[in-house]
Amino acid sequence: MRIDVLLGEALVVPADVADRVVVVIDVLRAATTVAAALDAGARAVIPFETVDETASCAKSYARGEVQLAGERRMVKIDGFDLGNSPAEYTPASVGGRTILYTTTNGTMALAATHGARACFFAGFVNVAATVAAVRLAAGRGADVTMICAGHERHVALEDLVCAGRLVRGISAGREVTRGDGARVAEMAERPFQGGIASVALEAAHARSLIAAGFERDVELCLTLDRYERAVRYHERQLQLEPATSKED
Ligand code: MLT
Repeated sequence: MRIDVLLGEALVVPADVADRVVVVIDVLRAATTVAAALDAGARAVIPFETVDETASCAKSYARGEVQLAGERRMVKIDGFDLGNSPAEYTPASVGGRTILYTTTNGTMALAATHGARACFFAGFVNVAATVAAVRLAAGRGADVTMICAGHERHVALEDLVCAGRLVRGISAGREVTRGDGARVAEMAERPFQGGIASVALEAAHARSLIAAGFERDVELCLTLDRYERAVRYHERQLQLEPATSKED
């Protein structure tokens, strides 16, 4: 097995994802918010790259069936039902509904995964479940590509640290070739092996969110393994992966 880590979807070419198991990482906040929405009982989350696409897709649903959700410049989009704070996604707000969702970085990165053998959307909140799901999906043969969504075309420390943790978990007990991106991710993760809360002090996007009043969101996003199931992206929908059964 080979593991590559790419910094940003702008660098992805079709060969990076074709027939590979792909993990898109967006710790702050898209992957965390999607995991929270699905855990709260949303039927599915459908990601879009633009606000217009999101709003126009809503027209094909009955009003009560969907919630329009997401952010631009960290805040809820005008006319949308929900912003991008994981705590907004409760059984009352999303249970049984489909979430039409757009964010600045995370939903863009998902669009770059076409052709993957399997694709997962991960943050710290579901890192152990994602490790198990990737190991199962890769079986003995497939290579793995991780795409760190980053923040506005820049590297985001929290995504790189999460990638390092995933590399460590996926490679445990296996013979793995790490690309240089995977090695850099492992190096970035090393100082945070004792705890990830201090990522908030160092990561620029975490500091911006805290300054904008989203401190609680940062705390939630930096909670390890809050959720027990991975999030899979399949046929343009994000859904909970069924509980992972054993690898052979
Ligand atoms: C994104 O996907 O761009 C992020 O979730 C941005 C944010 O923190 O709202």
